[in-house]
Amino acid sequence: MDSRVRFEIVPSILSADFACLGEQVRAVFEAGIRRIQIDVMDGQFVPNITMGPLIIEAIRPIANEYDGYFETHLMIVQPERYLADFAKAGSDMLIVHVETCPHLHRTLQQIRELGKSPAVALNPSTPLTAIEEVLGDVDMVLVMTVNPGFGGQAFITSQLDKVRRLRAMLDERGLQATPIEVDGGVHVPTIAAAVAAGATLLVSGSGVYNKKASVAENVRRLMEAGQAGG
Ligand code: DX5
Repeated sequence: MDSRVRFEIVPSILSADFACLGEQVRAVFEAGIRRIQIDVMDGQFVPNITMGPLIIEAIRPIANEYDGYFETHLMIVQPERYLADFAKAGSDMLIVHVETCPHLHRTLQQIRELGKSPAVALNPSTPLTAIEEVLGDVDMVLVMTVNPGFGGQAFITSQLDKVRRLRAMLDERGLQATPIEVDGGVHVPTIAAAVAAGATLLVSGSGVYNKKASVAENVRRLMEAGQAGG
């Protein structure tokens, strides 16, 4: 029986070197990663502008070589306008923010109708009650552990209690199979606490893509550090 803790590192390409993005994406798949996060920002919901469907379309063929999985994190206002575009470009999961969706239940339905996996994200100041009524309609809940917009920020430890409460909320509803993802400030010193709190999907951008070590070495270090959270 493998006693190792089950969790997955999900690299965010926001911190990748975009001058050689294809190689950077291949590097994480070569390191054994199967799931990556694409951070879409519109400069309105968050104070940064990043990438759109074109990027997903460009790197999708690489992911296909490895049976890779793209979760697209939509940090944009009115995400319902672009669901079909991001689905067509090659997203497997579409993550919308509860803060941008006044008709969240309908938006999640629209993602499912596109044949994609719906997920919802919460900013640090947003209470769990904001998503209580849709827990049965999502395939994942993302708890932000930074205020969205940029990579390289510090992990907000107050969100660990939110992760624990969310795990209890999901389990009370028979949703043990619904994973919790955390995103932001996940590094070697912080990953074990996130795993211990109940996160099984750990997004890391600057923890995977940095000048300190190779992608493979950074992934290995994060996996090793995360095991302590079991
Ligand atoms: C922040 C993004 C995160 C970010 C994580 O708004 O949603 O995915 O890329 O970056 P790190 O891991 O560097 O905090």
